[in-house]
Amino acid sequence: MVTSRRVTLASRPQNQVALSDFGSDEVELPPLQDGEFLMNVEYLSIDPTIRGWMSYDTYLPKIGIGDVIRSAGAGEILESRNPYFPVGMRVFGMPGWQDHAVLNGAVPIPEGVTYEQALSVFGVTGLTAYVGLEDIGKPQPGETVVVSGAAGGVGSIAGQIAKIKGARVIGLAGSEQKCRWVVDELGFDDCIDYRSEDIGRGLSRTCPDGIDVYFDNVGGETLNEVLARINDHARIILCGAISQYDSSAPPTGPANLINAIPRRALLKGFIILDHMDRAAEASQAMGAWMQEGRLVAKTYVREGLESAPAALQDLFTGANLGKTLVRV
Ligand SMILES: NC(=O)c1ccc[n+]([C@@H]2O[C@H](COP(=O)([O-])OP(=O)(O)OC[C@H]3O[C@@H](n4cnc5c(N)ncnc54)[C@H](OP(=O)(O)O)[C@@H]3O)[C@@H](O)[C@H]2O)c1
Repeated sequence: MVTSRRVTLASRPQNQVALSDFGSDEVELPPLQDGEFLMNVEYLSIDPTIRGWMSYDTYLPKIGIGDVIRSAGAGEILESRNPYFPVGMRVFGMPGWQDHAVLNGAVPIPEGVTYEQALSVFGVTGLTAYVGLEDIGKPQPGETVVVSGAAGGVGSIAGQIAKIKGARVIGLAGSEQKCRWVVDELGFDDCIDYRSEDIGRGLSRTCPDGIDVYFDNVGGETLNEVLARINDHARIILCGAISQYDSSAPPTGPANLINAIPRRALLKGFIILDHMDRAAEASQAMGAWMQEGRLVAKTYVREGLESAPAALQDLFTGANLGKTLVRV
């Protein structure tokens, strides 16, 4: 009999996530059925969407009280009753916040790809940046692309892809140190520290010719200020709105939305789970750019299953630089 240590949902946060919203337990896992395999969970992907799943039904139902926290993760197969997933194979999938999980499907990790890469640049995070830009943003050489959450997992990759496409790229991030990293290490053209500079003033300063593409990871006031400065036929990629995830107050609408009409702008949301068939294409492109030294992927790793709740909090305080993971 295999046991699993789990982090569970103790209560639904109303505003900011508290450590007391989580519980922990140890359960015996059921014996494997045909088609199932047992994963030794080695890494967890810590994603802002988990905050939504703790409180609301969104594109997936909310997590039940007492249930394991839903999460992507990666690890090695220890036992298997599925011929496609043999013992010893490394995979990523949705094990939840626990150290062992019974699954019936996952994605094999190719040889030479580390767990950290599989859950960042070659996983959902990289795919989100890739699909958002390829399908919605479509940046052209010389256009101005603005990326919020620029020093985070998705934003750091999105901005670098836009540079590879020949655009002028401006980031927004929450500290001077993050802005320096985005410009000096990732090659963005400029970066606005939105905590020390007024967002509207920063956008006017760095985007004198207006904004053609906006990769929105934060929503709220940043989206509103971007909308005031878009060019004709601008494309707004509605990827996330982290500034609104942990507030119980009704969100205020962007007052400048009306500008999308005369500017003939496109605003399009997407959920990456609908685009998993693009994973091979994205990984191939990203792998080539990494080999050419044009794409840098950074991870921010916390140690131990018990650190997962604090790692989720880090996304909201901005403690992370790059993609946030937990090494179980
Ligand atoms: N549509 C999809 O399918 C999909 C898939 C994956 C992710 N997403 C979304 O993509 C966004 C980025 O996700 P990620 O996993 O890469 O997270 P991340 O960017 O690595 O981490 C979140 C970052 O958000 C910033 N932040 C936190 N509170 C903020 C606020 N009030 N205002 C502005 N910025 C704030 C923090 O950076 P600073 O220090 O710079 O503030 C923090 O580092 C999230 O909105 C997420 O929900 C969407």
